[in-house]
Parts: sequence; structure tokens; C-alpha cells
Amino acid sequence: MDFENLLVEINDNIAIVRINRPKKLNALNRETIGEIHSAFDALLKNQDVKVVILTGSGEKAFVAGADIAEFSDYSVEEGKDLAAKGQELVFDYIANFPKPVIAAVNGFALGGGLELAMSAHFRIASDNAKLGLPETSLGVIPGYGGTQRLPELVGKGRAMEMIMTAGMIDAETAKNYGLVNHVTSVEELLPLAEKLAGKILNNSMQAISSAIKAVNDNYKIGVDGYQTEIDSFGNAFGTEDFKEGTDAFLNKRKANFK
Ligand code: COA
Repeated sequence: MDFENLLVEINDNIAIVRINRPKKLNALNRETIGEIHSAFDALLKNQDVKVVILTGSGEKAFVAGADIAEFSDYSVEEGKDLAAKGQELVFDYIANFPKPVIAAVNGFALGGGLELAMSAHFRIASDNAKLGLPETSLGVIPGYGGTQRLPELVGKGRAMEMIMTAGMIDAETAKNYGLVNHVTSVEELLPLAEKLAGKILNNSMQAISSAIKAVNDNYKIGVDGYQTEIDSFGNAFGTEDFKEGTDAFLNKRKANFK
């Protein structure tokens, strides 16, 4: 997969997607948004890929936000379109991606960068990471799901404070808030992401996809997540993975999911 602003590598069923505009601290312009969608679309179709790790190139940033230079002269209509297209193509797409997506936050995750990390299924961070939603300091609000996903992850009061102050929190605070699950050194960040991906790979991908959907349905208005769980739980009993998983347990062997 060749992209202008992304690097994608696939090894041992794990894809690493790197946002690659280090000179602009990996800021998300429209081209990069389109490329992230294309890359994930290809990873969805690629049967070899079971887990995706999302990270940033360079030593300073995961993603320092939407590209401010690109949207600085946008009209109201263009602003709405930017948020709507971005949410559809990338942020909602990744949040609902049926394969697990881990964000490895390796530096600044600001604005659209934090929103990108929050659209992943869970996050880990290096100890130099700084996370925040600085949009109100620019006279806008978060437009890629930040006003919705940050309160879900850290609670309303903390989210309100982060959005209103436009400040940054460090990796340890992000861990205390539940925004990232683990903090490690810069060098250990990708190995930790790969280790977690490796643990996921031991399990049934079919069951994991169903679980992602059931968890997400809890946050969708008008959708009964409990019903999704009941249906998906029942459907699992008709899968080869269920037969393999239970047979492996009962025969004291390691499951070998197809
Ligand atoms: N959009 C466009 N360009 C960006 C960017 C963004 N969100 N974030 C950083 N850049 C560019 C800078 O303009 C600079 O480009 P230049 O070298 O051509 O001038 C380059 O990336 C390096 O950034 P710089 O500001 O020099 O690095 P720094 O270490 O001094 O500061 C930050 C790092 C992250 C604190 C600072 O870049 C920043 O505040 N970025 C914007 C964050 C933001 O508001 N994001 C939300 C957008 S909605």
C-alpha cells in the first residue's frame, strides 16, 4: 500500500498504520483523512490482518490535530462538510471497525489527533505523550467526535475542563483519567502494542468483532446494546470458533481458531 502521508506495514497478522507527515507533526489534512480511510478499507479486506496498531511517525507527535493551515479560510458550509466527511470516513469508521484497533500514542495527540486516538478501541501511550482538545483556543470546537467520545472515556466534568481550558494533560494523568490504558517508555511503546495485539490474536476474531459491535451499541441512541449482546451471544453458538474454543478447553489444549 503506497500513500503520500501514511506508512503501512503488515507482519504476523498485525498491521501498523503510521500517520507520516512528521514535519507538520502529522497534522490531518484532507488528503491524509482520505488515505486513512483507504488504508483501513484495504486492511478490512485483507484476511491476513487481524489487529491494527495506529501510531505517528517521528519522535514528537502522534497527530497534532486537524491541519489548521488547510481550514483557516473555510466557510460555515465547508466547516460542516469537513467534520461530517472526517467522521464518516475515519473516526466513526475506525470506532466501528470489526477488527481491533489499538492507538499507540507516541507524543502530541491534540485536537483531531486525540479524536483519532479516541476512535481506536483502546489506547496506550509513551511517557512523553501530551493529550488535549485545544480547539476552543482557535475559536472552534472539536469536530471529529471529541465532544462525544471524551466524556464517554473520562467523564463529563473532566471532558468539560479539558475542552474549556484547551489545555494538555500528560500521559500519567491520561492513565488516571482512563483515557489510556498503559504508559510506557518511547522505546517500549510499539513492543507493548504488539504484545497486546499478540494476546488478542489468541482469541476468536469472530467473537471479538461481535463484542466490538455490542460494546459500541451501548453508546448509540435508539439502539439496545443489551439486545445486540443477546443476539450475538446466541449466534456465537452456531460458529466453528465456539466449537473449537469449548472443545479446546474441555480437552485441556490451546484453541486454534481459523
Ligand atoms: N495544523 C497544521 N500545522 C501544524 C499543526 C496543525 N494542527 N500542528 C503543528 N503544525 C506544524 C507547525 O505549523 C510547524 O510547521 P512549520 O515548521 O512549517 O512552521 C510544524 O508543524 C512544527 O510545529 P511547531 O509548532 O513548530 O512545533 P512546537 O514543538 O513548537 O509545538 C505544538 C508543538 C503541538 C504545541 C504546536 O505545533 C501546536 O500547538 N500545534 C497545533 C495544535 C492544535 O491546536 N491542534 C488542534 C487543531 S484543531
